[in-house]
Amino acid sequence: MARNDLLAVLKKTAQKRPVFLLSEIISNPDDDLTIEELITRMRPSLPGLGLLAKKTGNDYTISRKPAHESLVITSEESMRQDAFFASQRMPPVLEAAIEQYIVKKTGKDLSDPVMLDRLRKAIVFQKSDYWKPTHQRALKYTKAYSVLGYLAYHFPVYFVQAEHLLAMLARDGLLKEKMTILDAGTGPGVVPLAIADFWSRLDTATATVYSIERSEEHIEAFLHLREQCTQKGERVSIKPPIRADLVTFDLQKIPQQIDLMIFSNVLNELSDRSIDQRADRVLKLAERLAPDGSILIVEPAEETASVTLRILSLALKKRGLTIHSPCSFIWGTNCTPDRCWSFATGRNIQPTRMMGRLSECDEPFRYINIDIKYSYVVLRKDEKTRHSYRVPAKSRVLRIAQVHRHVDKRVNFIAAKMSENLGDGKNLMFRLCDGTADKPVFAVVPVYHVTPENEVLKTAPYGTILELDGVLVRFNKAHNAYNLLVSRNTRITLAEEQNREE
Ligand SMILES: C[S@@+](CC[C@H](N)C(=O)[O-])C[C@H]1O[C@@H](n2cnc3c(N)ncnc32)[C@H](O)[C@@H]1O
Repeated sequence: MARNDLLAVLKKTAQKRPVFLLSEIISNPDDDLTIEELITRMRPSLPGLGLLAKKTGNDYTISRKPAHESLVITSEESMRQDAFFASQRMPPVLEAAIEQYIVKKTGKDLSDPVMLDRLRKAIVFQKSDYWKPTHQRALKYTKAYSVLGYLAYHFPVYFVQAEHLLAMLARDGLLKEKMTILDAGTGPGVVPLAIADFWSRLDTATATVYSIERSEEHIEAFLHLREQCTQKGERVSIKPPIRADLVTFDLQKIPQQIDLMIFSNVLNELSDRSIDQRADRVLKLAERLAPDGSILIVEPAEETASVTLRILSLALKKRGLTIHSPCSFIWGTNCTPDRCWSFATGRNIQPTRMMGRLSECDEPFRYINIDIKYSYVVLRKDEKTRHSYRVPAKSRVLRIAQVHRHVDKRVNFIAAKMSENLGDGKNLMFRLCDGTADKPVFAVVPVYHVTPENEVLKTAPYGTILELDGVLVRFNKAHNAYNLLVSRNTRITLAEEQNREE
């Protein structure tokens, strides 16, 4: 048998049975392969498959490596996390460390008008760069002020956002008591520092955090903040960032079994790479992901970055990774992500002192960055998903793919809520997805039609799967999209609970 065939048999057997003998995977007695030859061929692949080999007589016992224990957050830890999220601000020590670094790098006082003006210019340049088509972007973070602008404007909101995402991973049972984490494109260490802060409110969990970054200016800032905000011997060990390009990076530099890989606001910066090339890169790095590890990709909520993330996620799904969340594929089909602009939101953060100083000018709003809005996907090598729900075979609901046949009729759908309110105070509007639609679909409800029978549409968290009974279908020509009008007669329930009750 060819090596790849043997590997496939080994993988399949290990999925079915936790312990077996290596000799059992030789199905063809004509293969005159000895056990020693077989183990020599298979051994390099065992760590990646999460398997161990132990000599047993003339054979080898193959068993699954015990997974690290899942992190279970105690009620005390949870109270500490809630208190942090209620404050919605960066830890004071980090805010002070950023200010100190700006003073150190510029040699100027924080109220110096020339320094503040240069920072404003760097921030405006960074923001305008984001709106450009990816191939026209110029931002490389090679100049000191571009990194100082990042620290003053982007860091605070991305830091609190990263903590929200860590809390989400904890709720989904994807964090472990002892973890190895890799943050790719770490910038000034936003994610590693957020990990250190999140873990500081846990009692016993430990983590070792590796990171990759190509900008020397970002690495210098990262090392300063690490020095000021963490101490040796803490339960989170933040390794100095590896200076490298993600695209050409040599895997030998990172550990074999990474429990969590994070790409936060970075893949959209690989502007000279196609989506397939970005997928290649993620898959290459995923060779170092533990079999029960997770990949978290986060992008800004801005339309191009957000939709590109969905297209990339589907490309990765088609190439063997599982989308754990937020998408739920309730009909078991692949989706059409080309117009999928879906993002999560969090409560605004408190503006920092630095934002306050920068906003003392004619256009204050340009320098206050407090909105938490992001698109994310969690991917796995195994088949774990947040929702295992599938539309029951006997269900009398339509696929959204059929919506065009039911314009101006009242119908029933099951779909996930894929946005917070995109409407205004009078008309609420929520993006819906059942994985079958090729045009955007929204549930629209005037506030005076919100009743106890349908209010779960408003209150359910992002990603919740809902059953909508009696929505009126309208085609929105201007947006080439469908609106499902919810009235006081529409009943909306949690689909997963509905299923359990039956
Ligand atoms: C927008 S920042 C994100 C920083 C951080 N992850 C966050 O979420 O705040 C993007 C970072 O990715 C880095 N980056 C972009 N392309 C890269 C590449 N090819 N190799 C390594 N780092 C890269 C940039 O230098 C920058 O520090």
